[in-house]
Amino acid sequence: MKQINVKASKNYTITVDRAFENFKAQVLPLIKGNVVAVITDTNVEPLYYAQLESLLTGKTVCKFVIPAGEENKNAENYISLVNALAKAGLSRKSTVIGLGGGVVGDMSAFVASTYMRGVSYIAIPTTLLSMVDSSVGGKTGIDLDSGKNLLGTFFQPDTVYINLDFLNTLPEREVKSGLGEIMKYAFIDSRITPSDLQNINYEDLIVKSLEIKRDIVERDERESGDRMLLNFGHTIGHAIEKLYDYKVSHGECVLKGMAYAIELSEKLGFISAEQKETSLNFLNGAGVSLEKEFNISQIINVVKSDKKADGNTVNFVFTKGFGEGVIKKIDIAKLSECF
Ligand code: GLY
Repeated sequence: MKQINVKASKNYTITVDRAFENFKAQVLPLIKGNVVAVITDTNVEPLYYAQLESLLTGKTVCKFVIPAGEENKNAENYISLVNALAKAGLSRKSTVIGLGGGVVGDMSAFVASTYMRGVSYIAIPTTLLSMVDSSVGGKTGIDLDSGKNLLGTFFQPDTVYINLDFLNTLPEREVKSGLGEIMKYAFIDSRITPSDLQNINYEDLIVKSLEIKRDIVERDERESGDRMLLNFGHTIGHAIEKLYDYKVSHGECVLKGMAYAIELSEKLGFISAEQKETSLNFLNGAGVSLEKEFNISQIINVVKSDKKADGNTVNFVFTKGFGEGVIKKIDIAKLSECF
């Protein structure tokens, strides 16, 4: 078992474990109240819900299952969930547990942060992507018709529990998606290097990713500065995700978005042509097509509605090569230079 301590507006611990071995010792004592609402989705429920329920000894457990998929991270499902919590009699003293990937994590944390003005929240991320990204930092939210994560809060969990065995049932596409997010860290921090992605040790990669993100979040929890570095590949990645109508995974879209960010980094002189090629080859290692499937005006239109955009400008993250990112405000029209 490894543990990462996060010192943010609320201090909490992330436990990286196997086979729920230390769940009872590390998580059970932190569950407030006797009633627990476990929010999960149609993919994860048949795999892990029963096991989790059996570990919540002494608690009354209510199960809430949402349909899997980013297209379901919407206002209708959010309202249905909070109504279901109220109908089940969940009180202010209850705890919400999110058991699932990024969609369940964002949605259940948003429910916990808003239901009765906030109840305790525990995250149990089940995908590689959610383990290395949304499990730390307290971003919660749902998508609106105009864009991704446009309704949300910053709300830190009481604790996060990662069971590495969840990775055994992860579809290959989900693994690639998580690797995309881990590759992102290699472009903004030197603790993850391209060679780490050659001989993969998941425990090591997850712990390093969490430490990198933890350090950034501790410096800038509300994303007024350094936290924007975590958006490397995301500005265009989110636009691509929306243009695909959320049918292509977040991690794959971020990989595509990073390819654009790398090209733009070269065009604007942050890296050489040789560094660009090395960086793109590294990204290709994830096995996701980096073909440009949308045209510039489609992408620019969506970027303009991104919450990171401010009129005609956006804070864009470039790389100066492996290990170092840089944030620069640019005119959104400048994005055409990477097409
Ligand atoms: N996924 C980016 C962040 O948490 O800031």
